Amino acid sequence: MNAVVSEKSRLSSRPMGMDSPAELQSNGQPIDYLGICKRYGAAVALKPTNLHIEAGEFFSIIGPSGSGKTTLLGLTAGFVAASEGHIKIGGVSIEGVPPFKRNIGMVFQNYSLFPHKTVGQNIAFPLQMRGVPKREIAARVESALRLVRLDNVADRHPNALSGGQQQRVALARASVYNPSLLVMDEPLSALDKNLREEMQYEIKQLHSKLGCTVLYVTHDQGEAASMAERIAIMNLGEIVQIGSARELYRNPQNRFVASFLGQANLIPVAGLEQASTGVIAITEFGDRIASARNFVGSGACWICVRPEAMRITPTRPEMDNIVKGVVVDSTFMNGVQRHRISIQGRLVVEQFEQIISASYTPEIGSEVYLGWRAADTLVISDI
Ligand SMILES: Nc1ncnc2c1ncn2[C@@H]1O[C@H](COP(=O)(O)OP(=O)(O)O)[C@@H](O)[C@H]1O
Ligand SMILES: [Mg+2]
Repeated sequence: MNAVVSEKSRLSSRPMGMDSPAELQSNGQPIDYLGICKRYGAAVALKPTNLHIEAGEFFSIIGPSGSGKTTLLGLTAGFVAASEGHIKIGGVSIEGVPPFKRNIGMVFQNYSLFPHKTVGQNIAFPLQMRGVPKREIAARVESALRLVRLDNVADRHPNALSGGQQQRVALARASVYNPSLLVMDEPLSALDKNLREEMQYEIKQLHSKLGCTVLYVTHDQGEAASMAERIAIMNLGEIVQIGSARELYRNPQNRFVASFLGQANLIPVAGLEQASTGVIAITEFGDRIASARNFVGSGACWICVRPEAMRITPTRPEMDNIVKGVVVDSTFMNGVQRHRISIQGRLVVEQFEQIISASYTPEIGSEVYLGWRAADTLVISDI
């Protein structure tokens, strides 16, 4: 329902950046983090980190609260001083360069607009600070306002605008001086769901029109997946894995990544045997589960199967992996049936599938078979 509504409003409104203003185009620069690290006393907010972000890339950082996302962003923007290591933007070290000289545009969750200035004056401010001539300021502010579709509210004050409009002003203000890098820290968290989806699309458009590199922090995996080319997942002050949304979902390296992105059925592994086509994992229940992938980690490991990869049947299916269970819960929403299945009363796994007219839907309490392919079976590390 929401998706349809937002799709409609997208079609009915002029997409941001239609004008593709040449004067706002920027030269996206690559960023290199070289052993960058931040400690507060004995506490480590960011462990030594190496990372390369491509010029013009839309790069997102996700992770739970306290994982170090804002610290990494603050080190980039210059609000946080590194304990060790350094950062290069466009191949040049920014060590000791103050924030306003880093040519970085910034957008935060609380729009941080000047309440006593009009929308136009807010957007003009960074240009004034940089000594841009008055006539050029007027032209640039106009382009920036058109870019975010706010040309009709230039004389209003921020408190006369909606949250979405205020965030558009913040976006215009952050991009009006052609920053080579735009950093955003949870910029849409204060907006409601529909508006958030709309703004995700608009920020993506803005990025493709302007060409700057974008570093986008969010705790919302859906947001990262819909916007970023690559995503870094952080936990406890370090980047755990980097990849596209698809790569991270399909090939999580450990239990944290697997359960942070979407849903994952995790079954503890008691033993592993090498097979010609991958590995055989023996579960605590004695089931032998085939995986077509090799296990590269060491130590404790888990079988990971995504709920949509499982099939549920009343009779024994012809599939690589089969376990028996009892349906303990079943819910239907928007064409998707979700089952919770208990295996030997000790483990509950989730399965879901799109329901079409002839689909089998078991009653709660019925004995069923769960089947899935070896190709959809991962064996992953604990950490
Ligand atoms: N100024 C500070 N002083 C002490 N600890 C801090 C400070 N800023 C952040 N931290 C700590 O560093 C860790 C990472 O914080 P942060 O980067 O803000 O995480 P995130 O943005 O992922 O929620 C947290 O444990 C936080 O408490
Ligand atoms: Mg944060």
